[in-house]
Amino acid sequence: MAQVTRRSFLGTASLAAAGAAMGPWVLRAGAQAGPIKIGLVLPYSGVYAVLGESITQGMELVFARENWTVAGRKIEMIKEDDEMQPPVGIRKTEKLIDSDKVDILTGPVHSGILMGMRDKVHSSKTILIVSNAGADAISRERCSKWIFRTSFSNWQPNQPMGEWVAKHVAKDVFIAAPNYQAGKDQLGAFKETFVPAGGKLVGEDYPKLGETDYAPYLTKIRQSGAKAVYCFFSGSDAVNFVKQYDQFGLKQSIKLTGAGFLTEPDVLPAQGKSALGVITGHFYTPLLDNPTNQRFVKEFQAKFGGKMPDGFACQGYDTAEVIVRALKAVNGNTQDKPKLVEVIEKSEFDSPRGRFRFDPKTHNVIQPFIYIREVREVAGGINNVPIDKVANVTDPGTGCTLPRPPPLPLWIMHSPPQVVASCRFEWFAMPGDVFAQALNGLAYGVLLFLLSVGLTLIFGMLDVVNLAHGSFYMLGAYAGLSLIAGTGNFWLALLVAPLAVGGIGAMIERSCLRPLYRRPPLDQVLLTFGFIYLFEDLVKSIWGGRIRSIPPPDMFSGSVSVLGAIFPSYRLFVIAFGLAMAVLLFLLIERTRLGAIIRAGVFDAEMTGGLGINIHRVFTGVFAFGAALGGLSGVIAGPIQSAYPSMGVTILIPALIVVVVGGLGSLKGSLIGSLLIGQAETFGKAWLPEASMLIIYVLMAAIVLVRPQGLFGRPLK
Ligand code: PHB
Repeated sequence: MAQVTRRSFLGTASLAAAGAAMGPWVLRAGAQAGPIKIGLVLPYSGVYAVLGESITQGMELVFARENWTVAGRKIEMIKEDDEMQPPVGIRKTEKLIDSDKVDILTGPVHSGILMGMRDKVHSSKTILIVSNAGADAISRERCSKWIFRTSFSNWQPNQPMGEWVAKHVAKDVFIAAPNYQAGKDQLGAFKETFVPAGGKLVGEDYPKLGETDYAPYLTKIRQSGAKAVYCFFSGSDAVNFVKQYDQFGLKQSIKLTGAGFLTEPDVLPAQGKSALGVITGHFYTPLLDNPTNQRFVKEFQAKFGGKMPDGFACQGYDTAEVIVRALKAVNGNTQDKPKLVEVIEKSEFDSPRGRFRFDPKTHNVIQPFIYIREVREVAGGINNVPIDKVANVTDPGTGCTLPRPPPLPLWIMHSPPQVVASCRFEWFAMPGDVFAQALNGLAYGVLLFLLSVGLTLIFGMLDVVNLAHGSFYMLGAYAGLSLIAGTGNFWLALLVAPLAVGGIGAMIERSCLRPLYRRPPLDQVLLTFGFIYLFEDLVKSIWGGRIRSIPPPDMFSGSVSVLGAIFPSYRLFVIAFGLAMAVLLFLLIERTRLGAIIRAGVFDAEMTGGLGINIHRVFTGVFAFGAALGGLSGVIAGPIQSAYPSMGVTILIPALIVVVVGGLGSLKGSLIGSLLIGQAETFGKAWLPEASMLIIYVLMAAIVLVRPQGLFGRPLK
């Protein structure tokens, strides 16, 4: 054993002591030499996925310009998908702060997520630069020294619009927005100046965020006598609302106006000509003729395959610009947070939107201008053309006294983050629209049938709860999109896309599902769950994350009057097509030998196999057929709803509800269940909008309580 001499002991001890004393400095220098970590909490899936993508791209443009290095330190972006759900957003925020130890945080898009993140950010003294979510409270009673916002407060684009719409568009206005904090904030700001300017609200609705069928609301708008609509919708909601508004023939008679997000370039290509004439308020349009914007548009298009930048990309660009400038000012030292806050507060530069600066009282951006823009066809494209503007729009910041945030009043601490409007029961007010709503419910119900029938057949025969069924719907929509783009023929797409999806279904059944039949059901559920993510990524890599829409065939592009109710002719076609499919499927299952085999298989697959029928081949065929029906419903739904990568997940819940209500494996159950749910949801939205989803769940629970096997299912063993 080596001898520890007095000299070697002293030498080692003194080195250790010196090391201990120097440790923090050495460590700090080491940490400072490492990368600067920027955490992004953004939606990369769901209704606002396109917004998350644009914000990220805007940031990447600036960081790439700096070669991903500032003050000698590498920039590292850590992206987290908040999935548009506050609990997920909060969890991801905690991970970025506590585990990744990010230097600066940015995001989110959704106001509810921002409200949820706020306390963690504030108490951990993490610098958050909000790159979209507009929750007004963050510039008011919930402001924080550590939080800046480069995007907007929800108040900013809407408050100037109230007076403008009353003066220049109409006095009788119907307002609508998704039912969550941003919707309430934005319409609240509109009302603030609309009513004092002589405006009258003739109706108000709050559909759920992520709504895909606005028919019940559009019927109410028509009945309300409104001369104009003012609304806030964004992402895929904006595409669906604007397209369906046009399909219902409202555009000609009731002027559509709203917050600028309604017609930003992220959604304009999918909305197409439906958006022409829509008037909105926003701080940006790619048509601004300042040199910074011209360079921004050019560089953005060059880097991102010709994509037109939108306001969200501008927000990302400004967020990264604030970060880069602040880091340069502190020479890359991210540890002195108060110093970093001080320099961020002083940020001032030329942004694509004009001169950028923060309001020191709230840390919210002062909008150089809110532009009133009209969607027009200009220079060969559809774009937002400024027609008026209001300068220096600054959030009132009521209740915010930076740098010291006030203590929270008790009532805020104990109230839920979102103010839920009281229920309104309106059917006495408009009995005349019962027929129109029933027609809306029928169209929706038939769509649900086309979607759920494949799911129920697969379950009935194979005993597999195929969670990837929504993905088949999505693949059908995208395959249809490409086929229509390539051939210009909707009918060909309606034939070929389901065949292709059926082929994919057959491959999945043979290669992945078959080995799992003898395993516990959970294994199959997990496998099909995995396919949801696989197909979502596949769609993103082939078609990109953009929202797309499928044009209806020319012969069904207008609207017609049905017993006085104006109804899109394409929806009438959907009703006829869906009911014809129901009859055909019924004949196939009840009247053919193949149908008899399938029915026998649903009843007892093993016994059917014992009769000498190649049950494996039947299984593959049924799975492929179910998948093809899913694909078919995707093509059929395309002209009504838009196509976006997570559309399959959105539609899965109502499809599962139909299957449970109708009875697993029953064709009749799928039809009756769909029509029932279609009517319940439509009338629920029209008459009890705040409780429309609840109605469906209550209906399902009631049916399952009385008949656990569903309306037409076999009694449970
Ligand atoms: C928000 O939730 O604050 C929000 C979301 C999308 C927008 C604007 C605001 O386009």
